Amino acid sequence: MEKKNIDWGNLGFGYMPTTKRFVSNYKDGAWDEGYLSTDATVQISECAGVLQYSQSCFEGLKAYTTEDGRIVCFRPDLNAARMADTCRRLEMPVYPEDTWVEAVKQVVAANSDYVPPYGSGATLYIRPFMFGSGPVIGVSPSGEYQFRVFCTPVGPYFKGGVKPLTIRVSDYDRAAPHGTGHIKAGLNYAMSLHAIVEAHEQGYDENMYLDAATRTKVEETGGANFIFVTKDGKVVTPKSDSILPSITRRSLMYVAKEYLGLEAEEREVPFDEVKEFAECGLCGTAAVISPVGKIVDHGKEICLPSGMTDMGPVTKKLYDTLTGIQMGSIKAPEGWICEIC
Ligand code: PLP
Ligand code: COI
Repeated sequence: MEKKNIDWGNLGFGYMPTTKRFVSNYKDGAWDEGYLSTDATVQISECAGVLQYSQSCFEGLKAYTTEDGRIVCFRPDLNAARMADTCRRLEMPVYPEDTWVEAVKQVVAANSDYVPPYGSGATLYIRPFMFGSGPVIGVSPSGEYQFRVFCTPVGPYFKGGVKPLTIRVSDYDRAAPHGTGHIKAGLNYAMSLHAIVEAHEQGYDENMYLDAATRTKVEETGGANFIFVTKDGKVVTPKSDSILPSITRRSLMYVAKEYLGLEAEEREVPFDEVKEFAECGLCGTAAVISPVGKIVDHGKEICLPSGMTDMGPVTKKLYDTLTGIQMGSIKAPEGWICEIC
């Protein structure tokens, strides 16, 4: 299919409706077959579970055009599995994982004219999501649900692309111990909005959340996990039961060890240790790896030695290897790349 006439290189991270999206409804204990729709709107009861008690969840993954012109996406089976975990925690019906991946493939194939060309700097962001569509007035799970998948071409999540970010340590908590921080519930993002608006007003790009119980350990940001690099070149990422198990982070830890021969550890990271690190980055589907140059803790600045101009050298190697795998110029581990067309 001929590509749309879009200024791919200047896209931000925004929504642009594309031609087709997948829709499936759950009623009387079963999902229907689902279909591709041209209707970008949703009509539901005023009393729908999502509107009253925020029963909703989502996923995010990307499709890429490879150098040789194929369209692929990255580890969609892990997104399907994570959404299944999310649904179980939110008392929502799991959408079968194989059909989930098929729905993603159908949507990308049906909108292949919106998949940004190789080398354009843009990618196709895919947003599978589910919400309680049936009416509930007492606090209980909805009896009906809708699962949808749409896609939209996007550029970098942070303005300025790969320019190092300045973040602040937040006074707000993102997730409680034994709460919902480890799943992709819409409610986690609703309650982060005040913190991010305030951070932006104060000139910061993002919030660093600490663990809610002790406020001494690094958790994650509103939409990405952390990776740090020690002065002796070891890659470190925080381990916590209340952060989202990022697919990008899990992939990067593998890349660090198996492609770059680096030591890589997932462990608790005391905030006091952050000043000792050489590099810091935010990683996620939207963020890819966005370098952090400065972390501000109530006026006290931690300036990463990698500086405010470029990515640190280890972060750059991780970035180049991961994006090379995603875009087909570096051989991927078995099962990481899903061919669409
Ligand atoms: N942490 C949070 C809170 C997120 O919303 C995301 C985005 O999905 C991530 C981390 C990164 O996860 P992934 O790499 O699977 O996109
Ligand atoms: C993603 O990276 O896919 C996310 O869902 C994060 C969100 C903040 C855009």
